[in-house]
Amino acid sequence: MDRHREGEPTTGCPRTRRKVNVSEAIIGRQSIRAFDPTRPVTDDLILALLDIAARAPSGSNIQPWHVYVVRGDRQKKITAVCSERFLGGDEGDAEYHYYPKNWRQPYIGRRRETGFGLYGLLGIEKSDTKAVQDYRVTNYQFFGAPVALFFTIDRDMELGSWLDYGMFLQSLMLAARDNGLETCPQAAFCPYYDSVMPLLEAPEEQMLVCAMSVGYPVAAALINTFRTSRLSADSFTQFVD
Ligand SMILES: Cc1cc2nc3c(=O)[nH]c(=O)nc-3n(C[C@H](O)[C@H](O)[C@H](O)COP(=O)(O)O)c2cc1C
Repeated sequence: MDRHREGEPTTGCPRTRRKVNVSEAIIGRQSIRAFDPTRPVTDDLILALLDIAARAPSGSNIQPWHVYVVRGDRQKKITAVCSERFLGGDEGDAEYHYYPKNWRQPYIGRRRETGFGLYGLLGIEKSDTKAVQDYRVTNYQFFGAPVALFFTIDRDMELGSWLDYGMFLQSLMLAARDNGLETCPQAAFCPYYDSVMPLLEAPEEQMLVCAMSVGYPVAAALINTFRTSRLSADSFTQFVD
């Protein structure tokens, strides 16, 4: 595939065959937490997916994303460092707050529903701290995914660029599905950014937005059957005309 560089316009989509329609890709997407570690994802495919995602809109087309593709020894190193910190009880300290400082309804209820749903499916009692920890540490093993993506943003970018980033990430997850791949976006690495960013060789002026595990799902894995609920549109929409 021809690669385009800064300042060179791209004329359209890379050459990938469309296999699912957009609505199917959106509705069928779910966070996957068991990947087949033996099925690699090629560089060309990763770049093709990122080329598609990069067609996401951004204010004034400033395209505020930086992506680090991590595999092999570097991925193992990140797993080792973050797992050790997590298992050692080090909660870390993310550079930005993903969640509200004070949880309240309705958000805490939705969060609990998701957590209880997942743990319930896996037969994990919330009070079983060992089982909870054993599950949670699989985040740092990228759920077995052969590829980890890390996303950073220049720290002088404003909130608008974070909006842009979300569109880029969703576009990437949908493009992945179109190619038989699945994903799990992960904020779990953010508290350990001070370990992760040097391992990415990311410059000081960037901050970690999140990570994403990417790969082929293990179809038979129970955890991959977990399907979260959604509110219906009429519950959060007002027609004010
Ligand atoms: C930015 C972002 C960060 C997330 N971080 C994590 C994470 O660290 N670990 C995890 O298991 N899931 C993570 N998730 C997945 C959410 O839990 C999931 O999207 C939500 O429960 C809805 O489920 P679904 O993705 O299956 O539709 C993250 C999702 C987003 C969008």
